[in-house]
Amino acid sequence: MSEHDPLAGAHIDTLAIRSGIRRTHEGEHAEPIFLTSSYVFDSAAEAAARFSGEQPGNVYSRYTNPTVRAFEQRLAALEGAEACVATASGMAAILSTCMALLKSGDHVVCSRDVFGTTVNLFSKYLAKFGVEVTFVPLVDLAGWRAALRPNTAMLFVETPSNPLCEVADLAVLSQLAKEHRCLLVVDNCFCTPRCSCRWRWARTSSCIPPPNTSTARVAVSVAQCLVAPSR
Ligand SMILES: Cc1ncc(COP(=O)(O)O)c(C=O)c1O
Repeated sequence: MSEHDPLAGAHIDTLAIRSGIRRTHEGEHAEPIFLTSSYVFDSAAEAAARFSGEQPGNVYSRYTNPTVRAFEQRLAALEGAEACVATASGMAAILSTCMALLKSGDHVVCSRDVFGTTVNLFSKYLAKFGVEVTFVPLVDLAGWRAALRPNTAMLFVETPSNPLCEVADLAVLSQLAKEHRCLLVVDNCFCTPRCSCRWRWARTSSCIPPPNTSTARVAVSVAQCLVAPSR
């Protein structure tokens, strides 16, 4: 939220209703649903400028769509985050997070108590691209610390976990990530920001300013992978 945001400081109930809305000239009360896949341009030159990225604006709904943008802005507002990227599925959210923030040679410490497909993603697929993973019990905080390596780039946790509903101590894990200058990624599938681990939890303790803040401060949904700004 910017300084001039009229919703700055608003109660979370207000944010849940008001944030992300861009009213059109029709004066609609609820946000409209834009079903378009593509967009029209005033000229071929404008289209060329948009497609090349020289001019901001809509090009294709896989990249930007006003309905999705409203959802992203509302979720970011509810989480107290700078930005949000929405995906069509939870696994797309997790894969996108990993593809954007990990590289070959990195190591991940992951809770043992995560969705089965997430285990497969880390152990079968990301391993093929040179990303190593160590699984630790969710509530074994000493185990998380012991699993850290110099190349640990990410702590990945699911809370409340599916299906055992174990709950992580996010404040402690966040502090651990900050000390190690790595990222903490939270798959917050079950709880809305109203009742769960709003990611500002992760900012409560003193934080080394991340060199790549804009990339790190991304909240990805539908599975709501919340990325804390730890490096
Ligand atoms: C905790 C958790 N993360 C990720 C996923 C994957 O979501 P999707 O099936 O939308 O890819 C699920 C699905 O149930 C889940 O429970």
